[in-house]
Amino acid sequence: MGPTNTKEKYYRRLRRGLFSAFFIFILVPTTFVSWVTIHNLRQCAIQRIEMFGIRMAEERSDAIRQYLDQQILLLSTLSGMYPVKVMGNQDHLDRLFKAVNERGHVVDLQVIDAKGTQLSYVGPHRAAVEGKNYHDAEWFNDVLIAGKHVSDVFLGYRNIPHLVVAVTDPLKTYVIRATINSEKFNALLHQAQMGHSGDAFIVNPSGEFQTPSLQGETELSSAERELLVHHEGTAAQVMGSYLYATRWIKEGQWLLMIKFKVSESLGSFNERRNNSLMIIAAATIIFMFSAVLLCRYMVGKLERSDRRRANMDQQMIQVEKMASIGRLAAGIAHEINNPLQMITNQAGWIEELLPDEDPALVKNFDEYRDSVSKIKFHVSRAGTITHRLLGFSRRMTTEKECIRVNEILEETISFVENEALSHKISIERELDENLPTTMSDGPQVQQVFLNILNNGLDAVDHDGKIVVSTRADDASIYIEFSDTGPGISPEVMKQIFDPFFTTKEPGKGTGLGMSICYDIMKKLGGKIDVNNKKTGGAIFTITLPLRKMGEPGQEEEGTFGYEGAIS
Ligand SMILES: Nc1ncnc2c1ncn2[C@@H]1O[C@H](COP(=O)(O)OP(=O)(O)OP(=O)(O)O)[C@@H](O)[C@H]1O
Ligand SMILES: [Mg+2]
Repeated sequence: MGPTNTKEKYYRRLRRGLFSAFFIFILVPTTFVSWVTIHNLRQCAIQRIEMFGIRMAEERSDAIRQYLDQQILLLSTLSGMYPVKVMGNQDHLDRLFKAVNERGHVVDLQVIDAKGTQLSYVGPHRAAVEGKNYHDAEWFNDVLIAGKHVSDVFLGYRNIPHLVVAVTDPLKTYVIRATINSEKFNALLHQAQMGHSGDAFIVNPSGEFQTPSLQGETELSSAERELLVHHEGTAAQVMGSYLYATRWIKEGQWLLMIKFKVSESLGSFNERRNNSLMIIAAATIIFMFSAVLLCRYMVGKLERSDRRRANMDQQMIQVEKMASIGRLAAGIAHEINNPLQMITNQAGWIEELLPDEDPALVKNFDEYRDSVSKIKFHVSRAGTITHRLLGFSRRMTTEKECIRVNEILEETISFVENEALSHKISIERELDENLPTTMSDGPQVQQVFLNILNNGLDAVDHDGKIVVSTRADDASIYIEFSDTGPGISPEVMKQIFDPFFTTKEPGKGTGLGMSICYDIMKKLGGKIDVNNKKTGGAIFTITLPLRKMGEPGQEEEGTFGYEGAIS
């Protein structure tokens, strides 16, 4: 687990944190707005249903009142027209019944004198009512006192619910009583539009059903019984999943109750709610999508700028390191150069003096001569090394110069050749003798070569070779390093130029080599390509632009690439 992974984790966490923040900032208000909108819509819809229920209860109560008034009016008209003698006549009542009951609203008609004795009867229960006296019946006395009476619903002789209307004549000499056809009466209620689960019925103050429930209910639920409290006008309220509209009618003797299932009456609300939810959901999705894109963009930008900064920092460190090594090398080289010069001079002096000696007299003459030439050879080698060190220190400057790529290569190879030999790795050269020179930054180019060679040595490990070749065309110089290592896997290929990306054990590689090479080549206007060879192993190709002295474009941006292909 390297620093790259830690960084990756950091950006992933940052991205996740930003996503979560955006999501919360978007989701919380939209959820709240949706809730408020839907709540308000529902309240409006319930208010509309309440209004509708109230209107319906009022319409139905008017219809019932009118109906009962009509029946009373009919009976009052009859009693006003005919005296008791006429009304008590059975034939007359038969004819009258036929004439006034064409629509079948009345089941039977009965005339009773003021003492409660039945005078005449038309209807299906003649036998049952024959000879009956109603003197003690409560309703009968009611009619005589109030002039009219509308009964509660009660079970008659045939055991079906009856509603009775009775009036007396102006002189109170008889009472005419009619049983109302309950089907006709009930139909008045059931015309109301209440949906599939809705209901409309009348109950008396004790909660007994006066008209049948459409849903087949026979008694009120305990919650519904609470509505039996007397109130003025029409009331509407939601209880459970139902809306109840109630109105006391018949002078507080009956409670008209109309009920709707709220969910069934919320059709247009549901449609509006779904539309609103869809619009809010679409807007939320668009916001979230934009938030995701924005987060990615922002974190990506941050990542790129961090990477650039890390690169620059590393380059600065590298440059400073190289500069201090350069200064140290220059100091040592300078100090060593003088004694070396002295040794060369002295060895030369001995070499000059030796011919003056008589070889026959000097016993080890040949040994001395060999030793002197060996001293001169090794001192000259040491001189080459100090010169190289001085050259190295000079190259710490970043000025552009006319560089000979082959020479820089040779020099770089010489830095690593000993190590290569100790691992039985040969470094072969296929250098173009006629390679042109170019204006570039020698030390930086050398650093690129050195990094690639070091990577090659690490990849080959032991027993293999690295081939370094150079060639040129009109525009560029190409330097290729091909090795016999394991090659580069696609995963590594993708990240090879990332700073801190390394597959080496901790402490062995910083993962900066290729990243630095990439930056240097970019700065020099060249590029670096990585490929795998068909025969195995990796091949790095450096492209350096060909520039003559004074030509512009030294600092232009270059390119890099890995084709991931086998070349
Ligand atoms: N010639 C090669 N063959 C196979 N893999 C390579 C080769 N060159 C580089 N790589 C892979 O690319 C990775 C990154 O290389 P880079 O030079 O950037 O870092 P490093 O060599 O691991 O560390 P440093 O260069 O800082 O010592 C290496 O860890 C290695 O896995
Ligand atoms: Mg490396």
